[in-house]
Amino acid sequence: MAIHKIKENIFSIGVVDWDRRLFDELIPLPDGTSYNSYLIFGSEKSALIDTVDPEKKEELLNNLKRLKVEKLDYIIANHAEQDHSGTIPDLLSLYPEARVVTNPKCKGFLKDLLHIDDDKFIEISDGDTLSLGDKTLEFIYNPWVHWPETMSTYLVEDKILFSCDFFGSHRATSSLFVQDEYKVVEDAKRYYAEIMMPFRNHIRKNIEKISSKDIELIAPSHGPVYDNPKIIVDAYKEWISDNVVNRVLIPYVSMHGSTEVMVSKLVEILTEKGIDVIPFNLTKTDIGEFAMVLVDAATLVLATPTVLAGPHPSAVYAAYLVNALRPKLKVVSVMGSLGWGGKTVDILTATMKNVKADFIEPLLIKGLPKGEDFMKIEEFGKKIIDKHKELGLI
Ligand code: FEO
Repeated sequence: MAIHKIKENIFSIGVVDWDRRLFDELIPLPDGTSYNSYLIFGSEKSALIDTVDPEKKEELLNNLKRLKVEKLDYIIANHAEQDHSGTIPDLLSLYPEARVVTNPKCKGFLKDLLHIDDDKFIEISDGDTLSLGDKTLEFIYNPWVHWPETMSTYLVEDKILFSCDFFGSHRATSSLFVQDEYKVVEDAKRYYAEIMMPFRNHIRKNIEKISSKDIELIAPSHGPVYDNPKIIVDAYKEWISDNVVNRVLIPYVSMHGSTEVMVSKLVEILTEKGIDVIPFNLTKTDIGEFAMVLVDAATLVLATPTVLAGPHPSAVYAAYLVNALRPKLKVVSVMGSLGWGGKTVDILTATMKNVKADFIEPLLIKGLPKGEDFMKIEEFGKKIIDKHKELGLI
């Protein structure tokens, strides 16, 4: 990645990963990502904030060489996950005098994950400051954005918040700053949905915590830098609020078309009442998009045929994700076609036990829907419409 100058003596020297398409062997990255690393020269000391995924370490090391960095005093570890910490061992070999500055929990993780020796660390606590001479770093614990040890680093004189995963977005771009605010907020929403949605209450406290700071720039460790921090802070405030939108998400799988006929009818009924409906074919859909819709949808209807006496495994996977992500859904139900019997509803409701929503009586239909079955789908749809009216959404 090119070296970008952010302000006097502050550089972005991380790496753009244009081709990465999967993160944590789980999360699709349709637009690649970046691992941002920030170099700060104070009048007395230098500091590097976060490093890069070890697969891309050569590019970071090359950027340090291009900037003729012969001595590095501090490596600030905001987060122990290897996409930010993985190059620390190489940096310690190159700069043996450097010390890794982080909180005790992160230090423990770094020792476990990267086998860094104890004497290489300087431990800090929440609110501590570290002077680089004419620049001061302040450490702000921000737990659960994304792991329990995550923190941000605030550069006091320049009013920059280095927030690591917090406010980040998976997007490969050659631009330092946000170019298209709508697109970046959508990217950030996907990222929030995938890793932070279960921790809404923690994130609320973290936003309150940083709101006392005068922030001109938010520099996350994925995606572009925000020179208008308000757009992303306001977006986060909306995502973590209790507000839901007039939207029904219907993740479905259909083996021979019967469940799909039910889904199509339900989509038609709800759409004609002015509800935004998003059917997701679970065998074709990117789970990142599925997670994104879960951020603020009011209702989820999981649709599946009964197979091997239970739900289709793709529906079980979707239910497991919903349960793990703990979205703020208000209404949940299950529908689908079956041949003879099984425990589809029991298995799916048990799998979604963390979801605190009103469960509407599920709708199961034998075989391909016929005359009276469409009446049942109408009644099922009406229950959802009534719930949306009760919620004041329509
Ligand atoms: Fe970008 Fe949680 O690491």
